[in-house]
Amino acid sequence: MKPFQGKTAIVTGASSGIGRAIALTLARQGAAVALHARREALLREVADEIRQGGGRALIVAGDAGQASAIDALLEAVLAWQEGGSAYSIVIANAGRGLAGGITTSDNSQWQELYQTNVLGTAHLLRQTGRYLSQQGSGDIVVLSSVAGRNVSPFSGFYGSSKFAASALAEALRREVCASGVRVTTVMPGIVESGFQQVAGYTRENFGKTVETYGRVLEPQDIANSVSWLLAQPPHVHVSEIMIRPTGQNYP
Ligand SMILES: NC(=O)c1ccc[n+]([C@@H]2O[C@H](COP(=O)([O-])OP(=O)(O)OC[C@H]3O[C@@H](n4cnc5c(N)ncnc54)[C@H](OP(=O)(O)O)[C@@H]3O)[C@@H](O)[C@H]2O)c1
Repeated sequence: MKPFQGKTAIVTGASSGIGRAIALTLARQGAAVALHARREALLREVADEIRQGGGRALIVAGDAGQASAIDALLEAVLAWQEGGSAYSIVIANAGRGLAGGITTSDNSQWQELYQTNVLGTAHLLRQTGRYLSQQGSGDIVVLSSVAGRNVSPFSGFYGSSKFAASALAEALRREVCASGVRVTTVMPGIVESGFQQVAGYTRENFGKTVETYGRVLEPQDIANSVSWLLAQPPHVHVSEIMIRPTGQNYP
């Protein structure tokens, strides 16, 4: 029996990188997966791959920074009969980076970054935390970052949003753990994905440092850890996990 057979997972940011790898991995391991992101064509490719492997996928396109879009996603999942009209796993992964610190990053992007990384995440955690605690079990996994635990030398403003994401996850964990719901903070180091381009990283502001780390992580490395922590028995909660490339000294 596959470990997540009979479960339905919601994955935000499923069109690329870490979210895509988590969605494909959970689907291979038996979960029905609801895929969310703005780029619907990329979600369709992920859904096709899941269905070709015999899995079940639902596509809901939308902006993870908008509360109404999150509500539409959750409504669609609860109406999805193939997914059992219920869910028990939530991967709050949608997010974006931004190169530079407080004095050097492009502050015209600050609001959108907080809207997605902090306020959208908070709304998703509030709604799914309420639902799962009523159900009496379930998992919420929040993609924070090593920059959400250590102040980053090359992405200080972005990092501040991930400090907020880590704090939201831990706050929710304390609110809902007595109901049997696990809320886990995952803090990756450098993962090669669409992230670097969206953030505006260049060799000058980022790449030269990263070259000193040697081989960096791939999205599948994070997906493997998420799959492992979700598969722990219900009384065991690995509540935080930090995963770096072996050669990454900081942050
Ligand atoms: N890569 C790293 O080094 C690294 C390290 C630590 C933590 N993280 C975190 O891991 C998460 C995933 O990043 P990644 O590395 O996989 O980057 P990625 O390849 O750029 O993927 C980001 C995903 O988030 C979605 N997304 C971004 N803004 C969105 C919005 N407003 N509405 C809906 N979806 C949105 C994107 O979908 P659309 O563009 O299609 O909407 C995409 O699917 C992020 O939260 C990131 O902060 C990444």
